[in-house]
Amino acid sequence: MKRLLVTGGAGFIGSNFIRMVLDEHHDCLVVNLDKLTYAGNLENLAGIEGRQGYVFVRGDICDGPLVEKIIDEHEIDAIVNFAAESHVDRSIDEPKVFIETNVTGTLTLLEAARDKKISRFVQISTDEVYGSLGPEGKFTESTALHPNSPYSASKAAGDHLVEAFGHTWGIPYNITRCSNNYGPYQFPEKLIPLMLNNALNDRPLPVYGDGLQVRDWLYVRDHCRAVWAVLAGAPAGRIYNIGGCSEKTNMEVVELILERLGKAKSLIRHVTDRPGHDRRYAIDAARIMAELDWKPSVSFKTGLDKTIKWYLENKAWLENLVSGDYRSYYEKMYGNR
Ligand code: NAD
Ligand code: DAU
Repeated sequence: MKRLLVTGGAGFIGSNFIRMVLDEHHDCLVVNLDKLTYAGNLENLAGIEGRQGYVFVRGDICDGPLVEKIIDEHEIDAIVNFAAESHVDRSIDEPKVFIETNVTGTLTLLEAARDKKISRFVQISTDEVYGSLGPEGKFTESTALHPNSPYSASKAAGDHLVEAFGHTWGIPYNITRCSNNYGPYQFPEKLIPLMLNNALNDRPLPVYGDGLQVRDWLYVRDHCRAVWAVLAGAPAGRIYNIGGCSEKTNMEVVELILERLGKAKSLIRHVTDRPGHDRRYAIDAARIMAELDWKPSVSFKTGLDKTIKWYLENKAWLENLVSGDYRSYYEKMYGNR
């Protein structure tokens, strides 16, 4: 039986991961530690509260005594750290909280993992730590880290700390570096849900610059399956890239969303580019495929259709988010572009 501390489990990927674990691995205990920032939403876990094997704790990963108390009380043997400030544009606006959560928070969890002798620490990182690619090539696990945004710099710092704790104190760790996720429960500040929401409401679709930046898209459940494969079967100290083998330009993604919704391309607006915008990410996921027998199972078109269907069937979820704080953020970001 695994006794997991999952951090950031009320966010997009964390909530999908918890659903998968509780659905497929009935002998697991999952304690979800989440601060419930703007991105954390207990509605992402509707139907999970009260289920056997699930405990929610509202709190901050920077709170060392709380983390230690949870580990003791629930006899935790593995930590999966999803908790993060995750949005690049916000990191350009206000970098400080990215350092607090993504660096100090990771450090706090590592200290608790070391002191409580946790048997596995899985750090959920990102392909953005590698920086930007030209038209050719892919990131491998030995590509040098070259983060370009405050977000990716904070994630790279977290990764360095994880490796340093492994080297210095022998903490059994893994780091996963995944490409762009999409699917149910993604906060509508990220490209796909933002464009979906705008298109559904006949609002302009703000494409940064020429829109020819490339991202490698992975359906969120495939990412969750990869994290489980790492947790269950990877040797300690190993880093794994995770990708969808599905490179698309932003324009391709946006045009496909419009086509699927039957909306006109005239909704697209090219707006001022993101400062320091990374041009292309592409993942070489050969290691996880060979060593852990994982591969993406959902094609981009199928995954996008599933995602659109989910957002159409969950309009209330979206409506609850796009009022209040999010509305003022949206106006600030896109109102005068
Ligand atoms: P998200 O922003 O949707 O969710 C983050 C969650 O962390 C929220 O529930 C939030 O409340 C919680 N949180 C934030 N600060 C916290 C703190 N100090 N203490 C406790 N909880 C805190 O993020 P996401 O998109 O689900 O990403 C999850 C992880 O995966 C992140 O580490 C991110 O860097 C990584 N990642 C994301 C993607 C992607 O495409 N979204 C791709 C690769 C890697
Ligand atoms: O690659 C993994 C990363 O993917 C994760 O580590 C991050 O947490 C996650 O946010 C994501 O980062 P990106 O910056 O790639 O995702 P985002 O959805 O913000 O943007 C995707 C692309 O779309 C990027 O090239 C910027 C562009 N974009 C984004 C928004 C929000 C637009 O053109 N218009 C927009 O309004």
